[in-house]
Amino acid sequence: MTFRSFDTIAPSYSFFEKFVFGNALQKARSFGLKSINREITRALLVGDGNGRFAVKLMKAFPNCQVVSVDSSPRMLELSIIRINKEPAVNPANFTSITQDIRGIEFPENDFDFIGLHFILDCFSTKDCNALLRSANGWLNPLGFLSYADFEIPPKQPMRFISRSFIAFLYAAFKVTSNTQTRNLPEIEWPPNLVMNSQYNQIGGMLCSKLFVGPQLPERSKP
Ligand SMILES: C[S@@+](CC[C@H](N)C(=O)[O-])C[C@H]1O[C@@H](n2cnc3c(N)ncnc32)[C@H](O)[C@@H]1O
Repeated sequence: MTFRSFDTIAPSYSFFEKFVFGNALQKARSFGLKSINREITRALLVGDGNGRFAVKLMKAFPNCQVVSVDSSPRMLELSIIRINKEPAVNPANFTSITQDIRGIEFPENDFDFIGLHFILDCFSTKDCNALLRSANGWLNPLGFLSYADFEIPPKQPMRFISRSFIAFLYAAFKVTSNTQTRNLPEIEWPPNLVMNSQYNQIGGMLCSKLFVGPQLPERSKP
């Protein structure tokens, strides 16, 4: 199935996000940027939706070329409108690709930043982990992978509260966007990604992680 169906909720997505979560999702998406201590010049955003994160990234790294892949044409249109309205960013640095990420290949080591924010929860466990393996290959050895999503914390009562709330969110997306996913995927992070930092909100239900890419192997000693 395609996720073109996010077109339906695209115009009201920001409103509902702010109404339900305030600024928490934007904080979750942006968390990793604070820890990036070198210039990034080429970034891939997967399922970035209406471009709130793209603008933040492009302001932080004005020379960065951003490739945003989203299967919803309407979401990408809204991104472009948002970027064009921002005096502090250069729209020429933004490329949008309207396509399902599962049908795309990029060269090895192509990006020094990959953003996966509230997108892995759209996939089955199998597709999620296949995407992570691909992303791991597209990331250059010193690149950053930024993740934010809902998670189910281990301890009660937040475990029960999160399960119920996430079930409600999936039901809402089924009605509004015809999404077929029912459960959060069981994420297997590629073992060579190194966790740099993590930030939890709402008792661990909202989780952000910044990984550093597969580091270059140490040179063997003569
Ligand atoms: C839940 S929204 C999240 C949007 C944004 N990343 C955020 O932080 O709010 C999921 C986004 O991923 C896109 N999407 C879902 N499945 C996709 C896929 N297989 N390939 C590309 N984009 C996809 C949807 O169109 C939508 O814009």
